[in-house]
Amino acid sequence: MEKQISVKVCLGTTCFVMGSSNLQELIETVPKKYGNKVDVAGVPCLGLCSIDWEFSKAPYVKVDDEIIKEATVEKVLKAIDEKLK
Ligand code: FES
Repeated sequence: MEKQISVKVCLGTTCFVMGSSNLQELIETVPKKYGNKVDVAGVPCLGLCSIDWEFSKAPYVKVDDEIIKEATVEKVLKAIDEKLK
């Protein structure tokens, strides 16, 4: 079976305030674009904002094991495309 790419959009408070509300559209658009090759979900705080608080680069999105800082829709789609190559 083909491996699924997992995309986790942090919807914790810090990330949400820092803009992950804009990323929620990924939860709709990614399955439309990639079908079941990619599993996308909103998740509670990934714990990254507290580690990295002073230099907070929220919002964070995880694509498999890769952490995307200051995530945008474009960055996330690019990361997915890289992995599917
Ligand atoms: S709220 Fe996103 S990592 Fe904490």
